Amino acid sequence: MDLQDKVIVITGAGRGLGRAMAIQMAEHDAKLVLIDLNQDELDTTAAMCEDYSATVKTYLCDITDEALVESVFAQIKADLGAVSALINNAGITRDSLFVKAQDGQVIHKMSKADFDAVVDVNLAGTFLCTREATVQMIEAEHQGCIINISSISRHGNVGQTNYTASKAAVAAMTVTWMKELARYGIRVNAIAPGFIATDMVKAIKPTALAKLSAAIPLQRLGKPEEIARTVCFILNNDYINGRVIEVDGGLRI
Ligand code: CAA
Repeated sequence: MDLQDKVIVITGAGRGLGRAMAIQMAEHDAKLVLIDLNQDELDTTAAMCEDYSATVKTYLCDITDEALVESVFAQIKADLGAVSALINNAGITRDSLFVKAQDGQVIHKMSKADFDAVVDVNLAGTFLCTREATVQMIEAEHQGCIINISSISRHGNVGQTNYTASKAAVAAMTVTWMKELARYGIRVNAIAPGFIATDMVKAIKPTALAKLSAAIPLQRLGKPEEIARTVCFILNNDYINGRVIEVDGGLRI
């Protein structure tokens, strides 16, 4: 896909991976749409993109709210035109052991609220944004590209029952959408990052992070730019379809 003048939506663009993706794409003359929950963080990302003279618009949106997602995507179309690419990057963690016991007594259970919160953002949010973007791509007869952010955790990771379920489901939806949407010229792929140096990973408790980092064959966390470059690679290569690209330094969990 030639990115020039294309409307490209990035969710979770206020910081971390989403910010790195926005900055990487600002160099390609696309029309960038940045979505997040925090206007200050969005403004900072937008300012960093504008350093490259990119066209950037920001939208506050809770991607778990169906009516809001519908109205924000309608507004994006009115402001900039139909969407050509969507990067479903917004995601959260609420890590805890599924059930934690001490001396034969259970002292903690993962709450339903923590399960629902993660599934709502990571899975339902991806579903809603993709649905609205797809409607626009089909009606505008645009060649489209959807990129979902899954995770190495989709294989199962201690402390992440909720997150692993959501990220495995995102990988599965990627293949389903690829099969359904190829007929409209829409490609759907996912990226499965390993442990990348973002606030999300830095928040892991130090003993757990030390254990995880020591297991990475390349002996370092990934850089947000390394995921952002993978996004551009997928956007630019029109024959990549229905794949989950792993960017994890060789780690296997
Ligand atoms: N592998 C195997 N066993 C583990 C483990 C691991 N990575 N982590 C914990 N355990 C087991 C161990 O038996 C541990 O006890 P010992 O170390 O004494 O043997 C037991 O679980 C209890 O663990 P904690 O003492 O750490 O329990 P806690 O309640 O204090 O914390 C936790 C639990 C919050 C899940 C914490 O272990 C943790 O943060 N783990 C890391 C979770 C993680 O990997 N999150 C990734 C976030 S980043 C992300 O998600 C981005 C992405 O896409 C990859």
